Amino acid sequence: MKIKKICCIGAGYVGGPTMAVIALKCPDIKVTVVDLNEERIVAWNGPLDTLPVYEPGLAEVVAAARGRNLFFSIEVDRAIEEAEMIFMAVNTPTKTEGEGAGMAADLSYVEACAKNIAKVAKTNKIVIEKSTLPVRTAEKIKEILDREGKEAHFEILSNPEFLAEGTAIQDLFKSDRVLIGGDETESGQKAVQTLIDIYLNWIPKEQILTTNVWSSELSKLASNAMLAQRISSINSLSALCEKTGADIDELSKAIGMDHRIGPKFLKASVGFGGSCFQKDILNLVYLCRYYGLDEVAEYWHQVIKINDYQKVRFAQKIIDHFGGDLTGKIIAILGWAFKANTNDSRESPAIYIAEKLFKAGAILEIFDPMVSKESIFKDIDFYWEASGTEDLKLRISVLDSVNELDLSIDAVAILTEWEAFKSLDFSKTIVFDGRGILSSSIYSIGKG
Ligand code: NAD
Ligand code: UGA
Repeated sequence: MKIKKICCIGAGYVGGPTMAVIALKCPDIKVTVVDLNEERIVAWNGPLDTLPVYEPGLAEVVAAARGRNLFFSIEVDRAIEEAEMIFMAVNTPTKTEGEGAGMAADLSYVEACAKNIAKVAKTNKIVIEKSTLPVRTAEKIKEILDREGKEAHFEILSNPEFLAEGTAIQDLFKSDRVLIGGDETESGQKAVQTLIDIYLNWIPKEQILTTNVWSSELSKLASNAMLAQRISSINSLSALCEKTGADIDELSKAIGMDHRIGPKFLKASVGFGGSCFQKDILNLVYLCRYYGLDEVAEYWHQVIKINDYQKVRFAQKIIDHFGGDLTGKIIAILGWAFKANTNDSRESPAIYIAEKLFKAGAILEIFDPMVSKESIFKDIDFYWEASGTEDLKLRISVLDSVNELDLSIDAVAILTEWEAFKSLDFSKTIVFDGRGILSSSIYSIGKG
């Protein structure tokens, strides 16, 4: 079957970039990305320098395909109805209430999509899980589609996304692997082949891996867990380095030169952030407990516990440096995004570290090159209990440029690895560097 029309539900960090790349590489396929969030869709259709997602190279891809075969729309039902293939790229945050609150993935957005597809679809559809989902979610989706669908037949595939923010376009152009899980039935395998044919437009066939649906769903959670585990491993060792005089960067290099281990993802940091690592591991922990595998659950939970420990440890180090009280101290927070080259601050360590410093009395001057003032205040409102207080307005300012920093700052905390921060000169200021040199991170760049 040759696909002529694709619909993607969810125009976020995954839906937007992945569909832009599919549209670019498959000019004969009409790709419509839909979302209930009208503001987001307006932004996707707006100027290229204010797209809702900042990713190097994304604006160029959107410029080439938008209006040709790439469309952004709020007309969800219409796009579902006309497409032969539907990607679900909606959010799957950690549940905040009900059974599994604080651990399990909230599947309500995915279920709402499935219900919507069932309600609207009059012709057969291939429905693809692009969101990260707990193993066996496809079963639930199928149940909804079969129960609520009318005459149409649905084939469900799992095709998890492995892009990392900040390098999304490169990751999509040259994926290490494209993973497709499908049913072993004849119609399931046909659907798998249809999706393979789309990726073959730019991905070499050796890099396209097919598995059963459950392996594909679980591989995504497991991949994120293993990546995060490496970071927690190196971060845990950074604490030991600081006690012993060993240098964590030297350690990372020495460990990473073993080709069985490899050098990547061994950079000590203020802790990992982002919308996925924590939620996906919590979800994995929940699943293990659900299946009675308590030891396995505890093993993975430790990855999160070390990450929390690292964030607290970093903030405490600054507080301790000033004798346990930051009252009246002006601390510059450089970087709010959870990593460089993205405007995404979800679960950014900066949010938690800044909160701890603020609560210890500090006056904060915050700057990030890509995260807007509004987003920073939204994060503070959402995550901190101090939101809305007079104190907050008096002691926090978000700067438009790094040049606006108060000259009398007492310390600088660099919390995101933005390239632009590397050339800054903070003469006579104490710099707490979150770039992975925690063991030697308290240093003065004194010129005189
Ligand atoms: P996001 O929050 O940026 O985007 C999700 C979008 O879906 C939102 O704009 C929301 O309005 C929309 N939406 C929700 N329900 C809808 C509905 N019923 N109909 C129409 N639109 C709806 O999320 P994201 O970061 O793009 O992540 C999406 C999924 O991809 C998650 O499962 C995540 O774990 C996974 N993932 C994310 C990344 C990443 O780098 N962000 C990478 C790989 C996988
Ligand atoms: C991560 C995975 O890398 C992607 O493969 C996956 O698709 C995605 O999650 C997802 O499922 O959402 P992402 O979170 O965008 O991607 O970015 P990463 O590069 O993985 O960085 C995550 C966090 O780990 C950042 O806060 C980063 O600073 C931190 N990190 C990364 C370290 O502290 N040390 C390292 O060595 C590497």
